[in-house]
Amino acid sequence: MPVIGVLTAGGDCPGLNAVIRGVTAGALGEADTEVVGIRNGWEGLMEGDTVPLDRDAVRGILFRGGTILGTSRMDPYVHGDGYKSCERTIKQNGLDCVIVIGGDGTLRSALRLWEEGLPVVGVPKTIDNDIAGTDVTFGFDTAVQVATNAIDRLASTAESHNRVIVVEVMGRSKGWIATYAGIAGGADAILIPEVECDLESVAEIIRARHRRGRRYSIVVVAEGIAPPAGSALQPSRKDAFGFDRLGGVSYQVAAILEELTGFETRVTVLGHVQRGGTPSAFDRVLATRLGVAAAGYAIEGRRGVMAAVRGEDIVPVPLQEACAEIRGVSEQLYATAAAFFG
Ligand code: F6P
Repeated sequence: MPVIGVLTAGGDCPGLNAVIRGVTAGALGEADTEVVGIRNGWEGLMEGDTVPLDRDAVRGILFRGGTILGTSRMDPYVHGDGYKSCERTIKQNGLDCVIVIGGDGTLRSALRLWEEGLPVVGVPKTIDNDIAGTDVTFGFDTAVQVATNAIDRLASTAESHNRVIVVEVMGRSKGWIATYAGIAGGADAILIPEVECDLESVAEIIRARHRRGRRYSIVVVAEGIAPPAGSALQPSRKDAFGFDRLGGVSYQVAAILEELTGFETRVTVLGHVQRGGTPSAFDRVLATRLGVAAAGYAIEGRRGVMAAVRGEDIVPVPLQEACAEIRGVSEQLYATAAAFFG
């Protein structure tokens, strides 16, 4: 009887529960299959923290944010001994395959573990939408919707008070959320890690708007941009697992824009509100499809692949492809956003 483990690792993301439900229902749809949930990401695999999953265990979770399995940023290579750290749990539970739902860091560890002998299938996950090998990741659509709603609200108060508002969105390495939400919200400027930050040009966009009588502006900033030249270096902050904590660069951007333009400039950092809460309908459907597909790969005996989106289809893609690069916003997409600046 095949036994399939499933874990969620790294930052949480709307749609994780839909994937867990998809994996469980997909696997149990096949005769003689068992599903084991692994708690708190790699931590549960390293420490033997598991829970049996049946169809009832995953009822009523499709629309819930977060992950019923819990997650953490513990990593078998950073905090343990690679495959050896996970071996005991795999043997004790007789796991034939572990379905790993995670972002770029998690998938890189999954690839290394697979190369060392762990039977693994991946599901790419991040609100940042920057995993290579797949057209899109679940959670992104929800995050863009949250950020767009925030921009709409901020634009009205910015207009009432004749202010510049700098809105900081997530995006550790790439500016997908900033670009999409910026286009959807009609941003006057968008700063992303892929494009060199030139605050004098942004200041001129804002001044020109004022000259035309538009006395407010919205600037969307991805949290992962390099601190602007000339701003004081922020002390580096770490999370409980030793990884860098981002967030706050927009305060430096705002201070410089205020100085350059002379206009009152305020900051809103959206932070985890983009990651929490119920997934959009699009993300629920995508996450369900990915979960069912991953269960299918596990049962067919495929290993070292992830369930990926290609056009209209979900297809198995080697984990190497996901780990080859971090996928950024194209010049064409950014140019479309930039056509509306000012
Ligand atoms: O990778 C997804 C992400 O949401 C990033 O955009 C963000 O920088 C990071 O996770 C924050 O993670 P944490 O909540 O662990 O600080």
